[in-house]
Amino acid sequence: MTRQMLALSMAVSLLAPLSVSAVETPSMELGKRLFESVQLGSKGRSCESCHRQGKGLDKIGDFNEEELKDIINACIRDALGGKLLGVESQEMDSLYRYVRTFQQN
Ligand code: HEC
Repeated sequence: MTRQMLALSMAVSLLAPLSVSAVETPSMELGKRLFESVQLGSKGRSCESCHRQGKGLDKIGDFNEEELKDIINACIRDALGGKLLGVESQEMDSLYRYVRTFQQN
């Protein structure tokens, strides 16, 4: 486990008790909204800005869930200038599901 992942899982476990009372299920609708949202980062860009209609996301069948979520977080951090999402958060699960809809392999 890398230090970054360790820090991330620690952050997630700290946040977990807070979210228990507000359990919402991940949804494709939320995923689409996040994909098109400039609020995820600080650069005024969304996933959609670069991956228009899933551009560049057709080969993501090469990645398992853990790998794909790491890549999504890398794009949030580097491309959007945003904060990492907890790997088990409703937001990440929704974004993950939506991103999978572009997979062609
Ligand atoms: C500033 C442009 C930019 C933005 C914004 C951006 N990405 Fe990316 N993304 C890239 C680039 C560049 C790559 C690497 C392209 C490649 O390897 O073909 C990439 C790669 C990826 C990959 C891996 C694709 C592959 O097959 O290797 C995924 C998944 C991904 N991005 C998802 C997202 C998501 C989800 C968001 C929004 C949270 C996002 N990206 C925002 C530019 C961006």
